[in-house]
Amino acid sequence: MADKNKSATLTLEGKSFELPVLSPTAGPEVIDIRKLYAQAGVFTYDPGFTSTASCDSTITYIDGDEGELLHRGYPIDQLAEKSHYLEVCFLLLYGHLPTADELEKFEVLVTRHTMIHEQMHYFFRGFRRDSHPMATMVGVVGAMSAFYHDSLDINDQHQREVASIRLIAKMPTIAAMAYKYSIGQPFVYPRNDLDYAANFLHMCFSVPAEQYNVDPILSRAMDRIFTLHADHEQNASTSTVRLASSSGANPFACIAAGIACLWGPAHGGANQACLEMLREIGSVDRIPEYLARAKDKNDPFRLMGFGHRVYKNFDPRAKVMKESADEVLALLGVENNPTLQVAKELEKIALEDPYFIEKKLYPNVDFYSGIILDAIGFPTSMFTPIFALARTVGWVSQWKEQLADPQLKIGRPRQLYLGETSRDYVDIENR
Ligand code: SDX
Repeated sequence: MADKNKSATLTLEGKSFELPVLSPTAGPEVIDIRKLYAQAGVFTYDPGFTSTASCDSTITYIDGDEGELLHRGYPIDQLAEKSHYLEVCFLLLYGHLPTADELEKFEVLVTRHTMIHEQMHYFFRGFRRDSHPMATMVGVVGAMSAFYHDSLDINDQHQREVASIRLIAKMPTIAAMAYKYSIGQPFVYPRNDLDYAANFLHMCFSVPAEQYNVDPILSRAMDRIFTLHADHEQNASTSTVRLASSSGANPFACIAAGIACLWGPAHGGANQACLEMLREIGSVDRIPEYLARAKDKNDPFRLMGFGHRVYKNFDPRAKVMKESADEVLALLGVENNPTLQVAKELEKIALEDPYFIEKKLYPNVDFYSGIILDAIGFPTSMFTPIFALARTVGWVSQWKEQLADPQLKIGRPRQLYLGETSRDYVDIENR
């Protein structure tokens, strides 16, 4: 990784410092500044980490200019078309596509861990019925560390593996329970005869009063949405999981931290905010008004589902999601869905607008996902919990990768201090 022949020279106040340059298998080279402070007595400054690599990884690679997303080298559009979510989970966790035997064993393992401890049902009852399901998920996932004591020791490889499978397997159950609780319906237990996506739909939409048959169209669309959200390099919530894990926190606490970070509207909360924005726009003739607001520096309004820290071209997931939206809505006979029409026209106008062109703002993964989730029957409040459910495998894979790094240190950024220098205390009578 360290390219022996390459280094960068930093010159500061007449002194020069040689910094190693590390070579990637893809993407930009990195300047290794680990020894910079010891050698030169200075920090680097990069508040949004726009130019900073926080780790090395072999899991996911994004080329923002080419609009490329690879999971262990496989392009996301191929995985979305040819694979399915649990196979992608295996790929992210173990680094290779499974054999038929490996896949069958993995699917059985996940399926047999989908139930949660019965006593955890009482956690849900402590929440108000109108709690946002993300609030419930943060609480219940964190509380898993109060139940699964045999998978808390991060130094035990077997316990790390058990915790990984439990999280991937139980997240749909917890998300579905959060939904059922919010609508006052009874919890529905998982079924081992259903695949991952179908099981989630079953737990969300079946009721004791009648038979519920999972629509294969919806199940396939659900599975594809899970795949498109599985992992995405060192995004804000994944970086949160890594930072929490660097202190030695247990896996359930780390994933709960990731869920909390994902909730923000600039990140995973954008899918809910985007559909609510599209509904607020309501009709194509109101698009110019909202585009003007998005371009107005004095207006905090942003076009939700647009823009990305890394993608300065089309988000490849948005492309697949848009095709899936067309397909699902047509199959459901709602292709003239007004929200989809507004989304398509908004995308078209925005991509021709100089502001969006200059700032390289394109639809991201959240722009079309909400339209599909709405068509499947979910309320907007369930959009981010579904994102969290799908991203759990990414968080867990990155968490495992970090714990396997022999150079793992606690994450502890420094700062540019602009506060008061040392001064003496002043008694209150003298202030
Ligand atoms: C996700 O990191 C990941 O990989 C995240 C994610 C994942 O899979 O984990 O891909 C999932 O979070 C997708 C992003 C979802 N968020 C949204 O859709 C919310 C709307 N988007 C923006 O908030 C914004 O684009 C971000 C947060 C996504 C990216 O922010 P950046 O990279 O910090 O960009 P920026 O704020 O520096 O914007 C650059 C310029 C600014 O204008 P100037 O200050 O240069 O004049 O573009 C403007 C911004 O004002 N801009 C937008 C805009 N996004 C950026 N203007 C209007 N509408 C927008 N959506």
